[in-house]
Amino acid sequence: MKKVMIVAGARPNFMKIAPLCREFLRYKSQFRTLLIHTGQHYDFEMSETFFKDLKIPKPYVHLNIGSGTHTVQTANVMTAFEKVLLKEKPCLVIVVGDVNSTLACSLVATKMDIKVAHVEAGLRSFDRSMPEEVNRIVTDSLSDYLFVSEESGCQNLKKEGIHRKKIHFVGNTMIDTLLFNMPKINKSKILNTLGLKPNTYAVMSLHRPSNVDFKEPFVEILDVLKSCTKKIKLVYPVHPRAKKMMLVHGLKKDFDNLDNLLMIDPLGYIDFMNLIKNSRFALTDSGGIQEETTVLKIPCLTMRENTERPVTIDKGTNVLVGRNKARILKNVNEILKRESFRGRRAPRLWDGKTAQRIVKILSQQI
Ligand code: UD1
Repeated sequence: MKKVMIVAGARPNFMKIAPLCREFLRYKSQFRTLLIHTGQHYDFEMSETFFKDLKIPKPYVHLNIGSGTHTVQTANVMTAFEKVLLKEKPCLVIVVGDVNSTLACSLVATKMDIKVAHVEAGLRSFDRSMPEEVNRIVTDSLSDYLFVSEESGCQNLKKEGIHRKKIHFVGNTMIDTLLFNMPKINKSKILNTLGLKPNTYAVMSLHRPSNVDFKEPFVEILDVLKSCTKKIKLVYPVHPRAKKMMLVHGLKKDFDNLDNLLMIDPLGYIDFMNLIKNSRFALTDSGGIQEETTVLKIPCLTMRENTERPVTIDKGTNVLVGRNKARILKNVNEILKRESFRGRRAPRLWDGKTAQRIVKILSQQI
């Protein structure tokens, strides 16, 4: 029996591992899977609620790392994860996404001569001021199996000199989770709970360091929201980083005073997806939401100057708007004028079967 470790640490990781955990159960006679939670995210609504919603098994080990500077957080995960690897000696470590836990665990495994598989390999924003970009580049350069979600990822990896044989274009596990949970998403009562009607509001998600860590960009966003909320109600589940920085910059009152802005605690997966699915558009700086809106055919305005997920622009509903007020309002006006919005066909292999492809490849090659 081969021992495989699956690592997750932060909110966007959980939707990516859920279908893998499920698929590995079908290979019980070949693999024993151990789930490791690094504890990078630890609040109930940033972690445990996703385990409940997505029926992810309880972690085999919880490293309880918590927050810190990038170096402290990464180093703490590394030290704790090394102990787990020494004890368990798996033949493969699977990491997903681009968070600090992804980088930390792939580095430790490689140093111990344990093979690494990276799910969501190859994405590049070409912006090294983003912590995630550094995590992606290092993780990909160390990985033995690179599972890629969109074609741009294959090209990026080839350009970086990664051997063709290591690159597997398999599709998107986040979309596996979205399609698998659609019946439950459709049944969510979150609109009733929040007193909302379908198509009468937009959803905002905002937490990137480049948008919230410094006062100036956060003030620019506040100014954009003042205009946006005159046109449509905005629902904003506030990420803990944004909540903290709002207080640090003394902006909490200004946000509270916006009439048509509904600030709520972060939502679980099922409720959040229902909220997005029934919205007029999403205003976001998240990576995953660009992908989910592409499949749900909900217009997405991304408050960044670049994206590592270009397929969401070519094939999906995504438009890059940065913090540019004129650009944002022009797009909002256009969306509100349209009766309905039809996105194009979903990107290739975003079909709900990505985890099946990944585990099949691993079962043949390990
Ligand atoms: C991390 C990821 C980012 C991802 C995001 C999704 C990295 C480098 N960044 O960013 O790619 O898009 O998760 O959420 O890994 N905090 C809490 N409770 C929690 C977790 C965090 O209060 O459960 C607060 C802490 O004050 C912490 C801050 O949020 O310092 C930031 O958390 P951290 O994990 O460092 O980064 P994120 O901004 O969440």
